[in-house]
Amino acid sequence: MSVPGREQPFARRAREAKRHLSEGKGGSGLYYPDDVLREVRERTDIVSVISRYVTLTRKGRNYFGLCPFHGEKTASFSVNPGEQFYHCFGCGAGGNVFTFLQNIENISFGEAVQKLAEEAHVALPQVELSPREKERRERRQKMQEANREAALFYYTQLVKSPYAEEARRYLEGRQVTTEYLKKFGLGYAPIARSALCGYLLKKGYPEEMLRALNLASGEGSKLYDRFFNRVMFPIFDPQGKVIAFGGRVIGKGEPKYLNSSDTELFNKRKNLYAMNLAKKTRRKQALVVEGYMDVFSLHQAGFDNAVASLGTALTTDQALLLKRYFEEVCLIYDSDTAGTNAAKRAIPILEQAGLRVRVLRVPGAKDPDEYVRANGAEAFEEQIEHALDPVEFEMAVSNMSTVDGRVEVLDAMRERLSHIENDAERELHIRDVADRLKISPQTLAKEVDELRRTAGMREYEEAKAQVVRRRGKGRSAVENACIELLACLVHVPGLRKAVAESLPEEELPEAPPYREVYRYLLAQGSRVVLAADLFGLSDEEEAQERLVAIGAQALPEEPAEIVKMAAENLRMIRQVAIDEKLRSVADVEEMQRLIAAKKALETQSIQIQS
Ligand code: CTP
Ligand code: MN
Repeated sequence: MSVPGREQPFARRAREAKRHLSEGKGGSGLYYPDDVLREVRERTDIVSVISRYVTLTRKGRNYFGLCPFHGEKTASFSVNPGEQFYHCFGCGAGGNVFTFLQNIENISFGEAVQKLAEEAHVALPQVELSPREKERRERRQKMQEANREAALFYYTQLVKSPYAEEARRYLEGRQVTTEYLKKFGLGYAPIARSALCGYLLKKGYPEEMLRALNLASGEGSKLYDRFFNRVMFPIFDPQGKVIAFGGRVIGKGEPKYLNSSDTELFNKRKNLYAMNLAKKTRRKQALVVEGYMDVFSLHQAGFDNAVASLGTALTTDQALLLKRYFEEVCLIYDSDTAGTNAAKRAIPILEQAGLRVRVLRVPGAKDPDEYVRANGAEAFEEQIEHALDPVEFEMAVSNMSTVDGRVEVLDAMRERLSHIENDAERELHIRDVADRLKISPQTLAKEVDELRRTAGMREYEEAKAQVVRRRGKGRSAVENACIELLACLVHVPGLRKAVAESLPEEELPEAPPYREVYRYLLAQGSRVVLAADLFGLSDEEEAQERLVAIGAQALPEEPAEIVKMAAENLRMIRQVAIDEKLRSVADVEEMQRLIAAKKALETQSIQIQS
């Protein structure tokens, strides 16, 4: 059964996040020695690093919070400082502090190590890059450089070129100051059709790269700039690298704005314009507006917390990005139908990312840029203070004098209220809304409960299906035995020698990372190993998820129980391996030997050595 209008971006997002994790960034690509990784890790507090992105609450030995890799309402993301390990029960993400930074900042494992090593003042040895990683990195770096050069070129044109007079006058007319023009790196794309291409080709950037960056199209003598005769807005990532451009016609003309399409460096659904500046604000509230110029004017007027979604409806990724730096969002969209609908859609997305939401409808149907230039910063500040909460907003944009209008509000409110997890809090809000809609709180409460029940069931089914998919699909019984056995060996060093004596490495499944982890653990002797040490052991992409499973495997409290668990799993692994050999053996003596070995398994036992 499905409830009309109820979107489920989160289950999808969780799947995407998981695919993203397993598709690609498992490999370290870099080969730092184990003890160097260990040193950096030991000098880094995983809880404080993750706290930069996730609000964590302590419960017992672990910390819990909302998973930053998929949207969720209940905290299934945990950080275990003892094991230096994090894990999400919801989407299956997990790893150590390096993989966390790798995934959340979308950088490579090696880059994450370098970043944290720098913070911890650990000198890293020179290491060899794997050829694939080396190539990937060089290309990325070169592309970033090309974008930077392009932005500088446009900027220089705007400031210096005699042909940019019209552009300069246009910006002056819009009250752009030199200081902010520079801060935002605005520029001018000349009218000549290959000005930028010519410049960048001469600097040695290949044609193919200019096309890949969406700066040019065509080839050879017909290679043309994508942007010409436009005011240019470079788009920066939160770290301040130029990843794309938006270009506005000077004065009237179509299309008014032309933007880079998605490239290897840029995904418009994952970025917000001016986030690189807004993240430095001292305010706890972000202003989310529609346009480049809105952001610009607001910053210039002192609202250094303004960002814009890049011509798209607000996405879950953007909401999660906002959540990294802010507690509250004030949506400031146009007061027309399109803007109102955009706000309506954005509210639940932001709320589900854990942000408080307010909505400001700028009076006089003006956009924030016009408003702030006409009325000044103080007037705008006042407007923000009186921004509506989501209930007030729904009521303000609906026709409350008609039954249809009130039913519309009711629909939206039921949906919103159903997401409030805390019972007492939900009841308070239900009373408030019922009061404002002039209906009985009992009726509203009943409807909200009904919606929660059906939605909850669907979510439960979805979660269950996901777990089944995760466990069932890729993983055999032997693999599960392997995961349990390896977890025992991680946490109980005294088991390693005994297991090593009875379980040859080649009897473990060939799929990574089982043998790699086994070999590693045996090499550690009686040294303490943490779940965190396992990440980076295998370069294979599919290994990541299995490493998380080993790290997240719960063990019994009693040492004797752990030994039993290890022994049972060892037996199971050996049995399967021997059966496998028996199936293909031709030699009779060998067959007899295997049968004897299989028989011996039944009485075999292992012991902890202290
Ligand atoms: N936009 C776009 N392509 C268009 C029109 C708009 O990408 N053809 C995006 C731009 O990010 C733009 C935002 O939508 O900034 C809002 O558009 P609009 O309200 O039409 O423009 P303004 O931001 O008000 O632009 P200006 O003030 O420069 O006229
Ligand atoms: Mn405008």
